[in-house]
Amino acid sequence: MSETGSNSMWGGRFATGPDAIMEAINASIGFDRRLFRQDIEGSRAHALMLARQGIISDTDAGAIREGLLTVLSEIEAGNFPFSAALEDIHMNVEARLREIVGEAAGRLHTARSRNDQVATDFRLWVRDQIDAALGGIAALQRALLAQAEAGAGWVMPGFTHLQTAQPVTWGHHMLAYVEMLGRDAGRLSDARARMNECPLGAAALAGTSFPIDREMTAAALGFDRPCANSLDAVSDRDFALEFLAAASVCAMHLSRLAEELVIWSSAQFRFVALSDRFSTGSSIMPQKKNPDAAELIRAKIGRIVGANVALLMVMKGLPLAYSKDMKEDKEQVFDAADTLMLALAAMEGMVRDMQARPDAMEAAASAGFSTATDLADWLVREAGLPFREAHHVTGALVARAEALGCDLPDLSMDEMRAVHPAITEAVYGVLGVHNSVASRTSLGGTAPGRVREQIALWRERLGA
Ligand code: ARG
Repeated sequence: MSETGSNSMWGGRFATGPDAIMEAINASIGFDRRLFRQDIEGSRAHALMLARQGIISDTDAGAIREGLLTVLSEIEAGNFPFSAALEDIHMNVEARLREIVGEAAGRLHTARSRNDQVATDFRLWVRDQIDAALGGIAALQRALLAQAEAGAGWVMPGFTHLQTAQPVTWGHHMLAYVEMLGRDAGRLSDARARMNECPLGAAALAGTSFPIDREMTAAALGFDRPCANSLDAVSDRDFALEFLAAASVCAMHLSRLAEELVIWSSAQFRFVALSDRFSTGSSIMPQKKNPDAAELIRAKIGRIVGANVALLMVMKGLPLAYSKDMKEDKEQVFDAADTLMLALAAMEGMVRDMQARPDAMEAAASAGFSTATDLADWLVREAGLPFREAHHVTGALVARAEALGCDLPDLSMDEMRAVHPAITEAVYGVLGVHNSVASRTSLGGTAPGRVREQIALWRERLGA
């Protein structure tokens, strides 16, 4: 701080420093320090470009770039003196750089503003998060594939309305989530490709009169190209919104799987046993093993969707270009990214560890007249009934079985013939749950052979 108590970065026109409350509402260093790597990387690229273009000397650029590495190691070592008076990560880094390299530090901010600086830092940060999330998604897909492979032919009830509908295979059910996660990865990759343009050099909003080379800094930071419009470059937060939107959909998928794990691990279902590593006990009920990780994943979506809505509200109605409102863009994105990574990791661990119980699943699949559709289809195929009539006949057979307290395959030929004379012994061939799933060989169907085909395709795609 200068002697006047005003800010050393912009204190020229100020007589006094800010009120304590002003400092409290304005300071973001408490959270935007998370951008330190990206901030330093961006500044190093900028300094090099300034020297290449003859805007600052090589000596100054060298000192700046070395000094920034010192700052980086201080922050990494945890002994960097972060200051709320210096507001944000950019000014904290620059102030420390000045202490380390002296006057040269003051030349770093040539042809740049904190507006393009923060836009660049934040893009780099979100891009890193997308890469990490893609890794987390692929790991979870591999865990699901391992489950699918183990039980490609295990039979379980498939549900609609959470009522037993038709038998499906465990592998098929696991692969349904692999598909969803594949689309999540696609959305994140699409967002990554779109956001990969560099705001640096847009300066405050209008560009700069210095002969900068934006192509150079864009390339150095791994961007495909510079953003084309300087006003847009400093104002845009779509990249964070797209990340949050894609993360929200992914979190929604995770919450659905989490809910299934909660249901499946209950004493009423017993389709899976969750490992001790991802469960907890009860302090009062000794018999309990609770699926806490699944419940927490089911709930975490609230934070991610909340962040998405919050940032939309921050950005809504803002005039071009930068407004301080945009400082409210980061905290919730940080939280959402952390939450998504944690949820993906916890789900991967749970899926990897869980023990499916094929016997319990098959027993449940056999109950609830789950092969009634197979019977109706047989009547169409073998007895030439119109489907509507076959549906009606089958309904009558289900009612008969229900009245007798048995399952469809337990009905005698006489019982069957009493309902429709065209039924023959051959009908029993389609009534078992294994027959049922084996017959569903249509593209995308639940037959074990189809499931194994899909597993092989996904293994190839994931390189696993
Ligand atoms: N750290 C600030 C932010 O995140 C930097 C931008 C400050 N710009 C300004 N014109 N006051 O928004």
